[in-house]
Amino acid sequence: MNVADSEVVASVLTNAGYVLADSYQEADFIFLNTCSIRENAEQRVFGRLDLFNQQKKKYPEIKVGVLGCMAERLKEELMERKKVVDLVVGPDGYRDLPNLLAQTESGHKAINVILSQDETYADIAPVRYENNGVSAFISIMRGCQNMCSYCIVPYVRGKERSRSPETILSELTELKINNYKEVTLIGQNVNSYVFEAGSEKITFDKLLEKVASEFPDIRIRFSTNHPKDLSDELLKVMAKYNNVCRSIHLPVQSGSSAVLKTMNRAYSREWYLDRIKAIKKFVPDCAISTDIMVGFCGETEEDHKDTLSMMEEVQYDFAFMFKYSDRPGTYASKKMNDDVPEEVKVRRLNEVIELQHKISLKTKKNDIGKTYEVLVEGFSKKSSLEMVGRNSQNKAIVFPSLNNKPGDIVQVVVEKSTSATLIGKII
Ligand code: 5AD
Ligand code: SF4
Repeated sequence: MNVADSEVVASVLTNAGYVLADSYQEADFIFLNTCSIRENAEQRVFGRLDLFNQQKKKYPEIKVGVLGCMAERLKEELMERKKVVDLVVGPDGYRDLPNLLAQTESGHKAINVILSQDETYADIAPVRYENNGVSAFISIMRGCQNMCSYCIVPYVRGKERSRSPETILSELTELKINNYKEVTLIGQNVNSYVFEAGSEKITFDKLLEKVASEFPDIRIRFSTNHPKDLSDELLKVMAKYNNVCRSIHLPVQSGSSAVLKTMNRAYSREWYLDRIKAIKKFVPDCAISTDIMVGFCGETEEDHKDTLSMMEEVQYDFAFMFKYSDRPGTYASKKMNDDVPEEVKVRRLNEVIELQHKISLKTKKNDIGKTYEVLVEGFSKKSSLEMVGRNSQNKAIVFPSLNNKPGDIVQVVVEKSTSATLIGKII
């Protein structure tokens, strides 16, 4: 989400005559695009602000702006208490950046944290900087109104709104012209995508079908899904089009129906498992990844065991794993008790990480001997004689290569694996 937002910011500012600097040391304006979702994300931003403060001491004329969710959440604190910050702009205020920059140039601090009901930046052509020239993100919707009790997103990114299919398709055309081979359609909950065109209601499965059929030689991914809304129709579209990648990110958060209820996730363990069954039925070769959160308010040892058994049952290919952190302003922060002691949260998180490590090793071992179509992304981190790419299941595969380039499609047979990577050779 933040990459897509930064690309919109880059577009607004280059249209206003500004030029992207190669590093913050060379910039007159430094922007930090921020995330508020977990406490440690915010801590990292404060660390970066300290760094920019050093730069500002050397060059007092430079300006520093905080953009995105943290700007929305901590507006007063950033404006009043953080001397280094000149500019605070929430996720719906990016069009206003040229005006706000002009204000800072006349020596004033500037702020725009107004949330909008309809801003989707649909007409702004993102400036794709710092990517591999092969894969890009297209933001198809903004905001979220699911109100999971632990989550700050609905407060800092506002109500759900979807972008018109025409603007999405024209962004895809632009990417195709520029030789991109893969796009990820992104939104806080892509399954809630809905655009009303006259009497027609275009839901996410219909949008995906349009995109997949009109761009058969582009790989399509999408993220992120909400288990309560993952429909059979969507899975059928995935099954029908080979260019829709075989991978679904389906955040579970917890394996306990009781915890899911206090999280206000609007599904039970049984519902979630039914959706997993549906994925395996309609798209049998689909990889499944998830987000897991341990230590939420009231989580018992029994609930935690339910999460571990959920992981065993689903056999996730990949998981992002977190321990709950209180986010001021959320329902949980106001009305619930953050009662799982820190050391218990840490222990449960370690158990979840350890189990996922074992499962990842096992699922990757199952890939040995299989041949995959791989989209080459670039050189591997370790050697310029090896390249890395991804298969449809979104798994990274490293293989020796002397004459491939990013964007090539190659057939790779898997020979070895670690818990994170597959290793193979081109056939
Ligand atoms: N504490 C910890 N993790 C959180 N997430 C969202 N809010 C919190 C929080 N307060 C996690 C969820 C979500 C992912 C993007 O971040 O797992 O799916
Ligand atoms: Fe947050 Fe829930 Fe919306 Fe995801 S679906 S962004 S966890 S409120």
